[in-house]
Amino acid sequence: MIRACDVADLPEGEAVRILAHVPIAVFNAEGAYYAVDDTCTHQDASLADGWLEGCLVECPLHAASFDLRTGEPTCLPAKRPVRTYPVLVTDGVIYVDTNVREEVA
Ligand code: FES
Repeated sequence: MIRACDVADLPEGEAVRILAHVPIAVFNAEGAYYAVDDTCTHQDASLADGWLEGCLVECPLHAASFDLRTGEPTCLPAKRPVRTYPVLVTDGVIYVDTNVREEVA
């Protein structure tokens, strides 16, 4: 379990990048927290620098979009999902479980 940040430091619509075995982006999407691999599966762009709309994040480089709930791309040019990670909020702190990687197809 890795500490991402305080809840107060991640307002709605924002993201933070943390370093684990790979960079991971943590988002506050309309009050719900999600963690996914930060690097887009199309090329080398940081999804934490992308744009959030609901539970979708748009890659800042070529505008592929990923569903933060599943990691699945919702449009080209990305074709492969990003990995998702469980998020735990306790005592005002956001943690990401980087050991329990949810399998993707
Ligand atoms: S790098 Fe993300 S869509 Fe191309």
